[in-house]
Amino acid sequence: MSEGLRVAVVGATGLVGTEMLKILEERKFPIRELVPVASRADGRTVRFAGSDHEVVAISEEAFQGIDLALFSAGGGPSKTWSPVAAAAGALVIDNSSAFRRDPDVPLCVPEVNLEAARNPKKGIIANPNCSTIQMVVVLKPLHDAARIRRVVVATYQAISGAGASAVAAFREQARAFGNERPVPKGAIGDVLAGDLLMHWSRDVATGYQEEELKMVHETQKILGDDSIRVSPTAVRVPVAMSHSEAITIEFERPLTPGLAREILSQAAGIEIVDDFTRGRYPKPSDATGTDPVYVGRIREDVGNPGGIQLWCVADNIRKGAALNAIQIAEGLMPLKG
Ligand SMILES: NC(=O)c1ccc[n+]([C@@H]2O[C@H](COP(=O)([O-])OP(=O)(O)OC[C@H]3O[C@@H](n4cnc5c(N)ncnc54)[C@H](OP(=O)(O)O)[C@@H]3O)[C@@H](O)[C@H]2O)c1
Repeated sequence: MSEGLRVAVVGATGLVGTEMLKILEERKFPIRELVPVASRADGRTVRFAGSDHEVVAISEEAFQGIDLALFSAGGGPSKTWSPVAAAAGALVIDNSSAFRRDPDVPLCVPEVNLEAARNPKKGIIANPNCSTIQMVVVLKPLHDAARIRRVVVATYQAISGAGASAVAAFREQARAFGNERPVPKGAIGDVLAGDLLMHWSRDVATGYQEEELKMVHETQKILGDDSIRVSPTAVRVPVAMSHSEAITIEFERPLTPGLAREILSQAAGIEIVDDFTRGRYPKPSDATGTDPVYVGRIREDVGNPGGIQLWCVADNIRKGAALNAIQIAEGLMPLKG
C-alpha cells in the first residue's frame, strides 16, 4: 500500500462500514492508508488487506491528510463531521440522509448520473437511500427510451436496512418464532419475525413514512426530472438481507415488455432473471452478497396497456449502500489525480 489514497471509513464497525472494507479489498481500491473511524476508540480493530487496523474515535485529527472519507455512521455524525472532513481536504461520500436534499450536494448513482458528482461544491457527495438506488438503476434506461410519467412502487425491505443491531434482534426473534417460544422484542422494540412493519419513520403531516418520501424526492433529483410522479409504499419484511421492489411504470410513449427487456439487458449494473414459466425470478437470497440489480417479471401492465410492471431485487448493503459509494469514488478518482 505504498501508493494510493488515504481513506477514512467512518462507521467502520457497522453493517455498511464492514461491507465497505470488504468491497474496497475485493475491488483492489488503491489505498495507501486505511483509517477506520467509529464513535469511540476502545481497542477494537477491523481486518483489512490481511492486517488488523485499530479503530479510531471520530475527531478533527482523524481527518487530517485524508483524501477520501466514506461516511456510514448515521445522519447526526454525518451532519457534524462531513463538513469537517471536507474542510480538511477529503472528498466525502456520505451514506446518510443528511445532505441528500441539499441542492449544493450531488446525489449520485454512477450508472445514472456520475457526471453530476464531479467537483462537488461542498466537497460532499450524497449516496442515495438504498431503495432509491436499485429503483433508479432500472428506471433510467427506460426513462431515456420512453419518458416516465409515473412510478408506483411497493418495497419489501430487508431488516439489514435498519443496521447491525436490528439484524441481531431479528435473528434472535426468528429462532424463537421457529421454536414456538415467546418472541422477544429485542433492540428494535418490535417483533419482525412473522410480521410486516411500516411505521419506523412516520411523517405525520403527510401520512407517509420518511423512507417513502425519500424515494419521491431522490428519484426526481437523480433523474433530474421533477415531473416524474412517484407513489411509494415501503414495507419492512422478515428477510435479513436484500431489498425487493414491485414497480409499475407509466410512460409518455408506450413501451412493450420485449423492448423493455432488451433495453434493461443492455443497461449497466442490471442482470435479467426472467423466466417466469420455469419459476425463475429475482429473489433476495440469490441477490445477497452480489453486486447487480436483478430484474424479472417484466410484463405489460394489465391495468395500463403501454406501461410496464416488473420486480427488482438488490443487496441493500452492497449496491444499496457500500458498493454504490465506492463506485462513485472509483468514477471520480481520475479527478483526484
Ligand atoms: N443498512 C442499510 O441498508 C443502509 C443503506 C443505505 C444507507 N445506510 C446508512 O448507513 C449508515 C450506517 O448504517 P449501518 O446499517 O451500517 O448501521 P450500524 O450497523 O448501526 O453501524 C453504525 C456505525 O456508525 C458508527 N457510529 C455511530 N455513531 C457514531 C458517531 N457519533 N461517530 C462516529 N461513528 C458513529 C458505529 O460505531 P460504534 O461501533 O462505535 O457504535 C458503527 O460503526 C446510516 O446512516 C444508514 O442510514 C444504511
